[in-house]
Amino acid sequence: MLKVAILGYGGIARSHRKGYELLAAKGAPVDLVALCDIDPEQFTKLVTINQGGSDQGAKKEYRTYTDLEEMLAKEELDVIDICLPTYLHCEYAVKLLKRGYHVQSEKPMGLNPAQCAEMLKAAEESGKKLMVGMCLRFDCYYEYLKDLVDSEKYGKVTSAVFERLSGLPRWGYQGWFRDYNRSGGVALDMHIHDVDMIRYLFGEPKAVSALALDGEVKCTTIHSRFCYDDKIIFAVGDWGQSSSCKFSAGYRVNFEKATVILRDGVLTVCPEEGEPFIASEQESFVKTHHMAEEIEFFAHTILGDRENDRNQPSDAAGSVALVAKLMESAENNGAYVML
Ligand SMILES: NC(=O)c1ccc[n+]([C@@H]2O[C@H](COP(=O)([O-])OP(=O)(O)OC[C@H]3O[C@@H](n4cnc5c(N)ncnc54)[C@H](O)[C@@H]3O)[C@@H](O)[C@H]2O)c1
Repeated sequence: MLKVAILGYGGIARSHRKGYELLAAKGAPVDLVALCDIDPEQFTKLVTINQGGSDQGAKKEYRTYTDLEEMLAKEELDVIDICLPTYLHCEYAVKLLKRGYHVQSEKPMGLNPAQCAEMLKAAEESGKKLMVGMCLRFDCYYEYLKDLVDSEKYGKVTSAVFERLSGLPRWGYQGWFRDYNRSGGVALDMHIHDVDMIRYLFGEPKAVSALALDGEVKCTTIHSRFCYDDKIIFAVGDWGQSSSCKFSAGYRVNFEKATVILRDGVLTVCPEEGEPFIASEQESFVKTHHMAEEIEFFAHTILGDRENDRNQPSDAAGSVALVAKLMESAENNGAYVML
């Protein structure tokens, strides 16, 4: 049984906590025992963010700490699950790996490729496992798409559009989302999910191009093109929507023999031959909690009963590097950046 503590108990940590609670109910070998946050009010608040739905409160009592050192001294922990704001991922992941803990960190891996390199080095030197929460790799709606791409059930992909949209995040510790230097804007915060998925599905593009807009924060909107020889791929990341717009994310992928659409949580397959059907309503489709899937996968890689064949930290670093290329293009009015 791996003993885990969450470091940074803000918005996304609630979704992690729910994942651990689902795993406990099914007897998975991972046990969330403690929470650490410098703000003690976070332990009693219900926090609602774009992703993960509304916080229903904890199912069990966790030991809580406002001081990391005190928690490390008092608890016997195997894994620290870092849910801190982005600008703290590198500092804490490196420190905790060096002190002998396995580390799961929220995405993006770091603010830039140099931070990612530091984290990879610390993991390698410590011999401890590091995994970054590129959670779409564990999301059933994206796993379904990955299977279709790999199996070529409907032929090859000819074109695709991915999107992830919301108003500007209003929650968050000391307004960090709204400071480009601490969050990386929508490109590094939300768009990176689709950047990572595009790399996961299609491999590294030959070149990228992007146009970005600044709003209240630098880079509130980004429209990106990913160049491949045989397909047209675009993605949009947007914090520029009006604040009354709900968060939404999805894709529309054309295969040679079908179009597959994820919109408003409904996954529809429109085959060239036959009637459209809702994939997520079919018996064979298993709806899962992506955080629980991600956490369980990482636990098994630590326990040595499975290879990390799905989400290496170097993959997460590659996605941060590609976002940096998109920003380079955006700063040059969309000029192509070759890879
Ligand atoms: N996977 C996803 O889909 C997803 C969704 C939302 C956020 N995230 C990522 O998760 C991370 C956290 O985002 P969030 O929305 O939870 O932010 P948040 O600001 O709500 O939560 C961060 C928490 O860390 C605490 N904190 C700050 N400094 C600390 C320190 N030194 N020690 C201990 N606690 C400290 C804050 O008090 C706060 O409670 C970000 O990197 C974000 O990009 C991922």
